[in-house]
Amino acid sequence: MEIREYLALAPAVPVLTIVDVADAVPLARALIAGGLRVLEITLRTPSALESIRRIAQELPEAVVAAGTVLSSGDQERAARAGARFAFSPGLLDFMLEEGPVPVIAGVATPSEAMRARERGLTTLKFFPAVPAGGAGMLKAIHGPLPDLVFCPTGGIDSKNAAEFLALPNVACVGGSWVAPAKAVQAGDWNSITGLARAACAPAPVTP
Ligand code: 3PG
Repeated sequence: MEIREYLALAPAVPVLTIVDVADAVPLARALIAGGLRVLEITLRTPSALESIRRIAQELPEAVVAAGTVLSSGDQERAARAGARFAFSPGLLDFMLEEGPVPVIAGVATPSEAMRARERGLTTLKFFPAVPAGGAGMLKAIHGPLPDLVFCPTGGIDSKNAAEFLALPNVACVGGSWVAPAKAVQAGDWNSITGLARAACAPAPVTP
């Protein structure tokens, strides 16, 4: 599958920083039950790669992406663990070459978006979405750069997701709000399924 096809599978990609590897599969199961099957596991904890491995092996309906990919070494390790693609907060040269899994590079400004586009990357992460200008910034970027498609991430939650999703250049949004650390620690999988369900049906944007 192409990257844009993965991003079309659900309106939101949960951004998961998993501390206890035992949480990985039940957490993924709870999110999938709520309709979110594309999952970003950030490489920020010692449990991250094993979490990717377990989810990829045990839940075939999950589409597992690695997040916080900062180097080609991260990209290789993520691929070996079973990630189908990856997200990065920024753009480095290794992402322009054919790698073991495609990386969605992060950009935050029109110049960065133009540099990525010039090198053939037209599906990008907009990060950090809210601090970098939010939906207004993405709307403005669509005028001169209509061929670019984004997954905005960073500061998105149940209140502002719909505003991003209403834009023509947004494929889906990413965020941690669907899996609050407290609910994960408590093993409150039902409430996480509820948050995922709500994320699949974001409130309409009032003009
Ligand atoms: C991140 O890198 O942590 C993601 O962009 C998620 O951001 P959020 O916690 O603001 O949703």
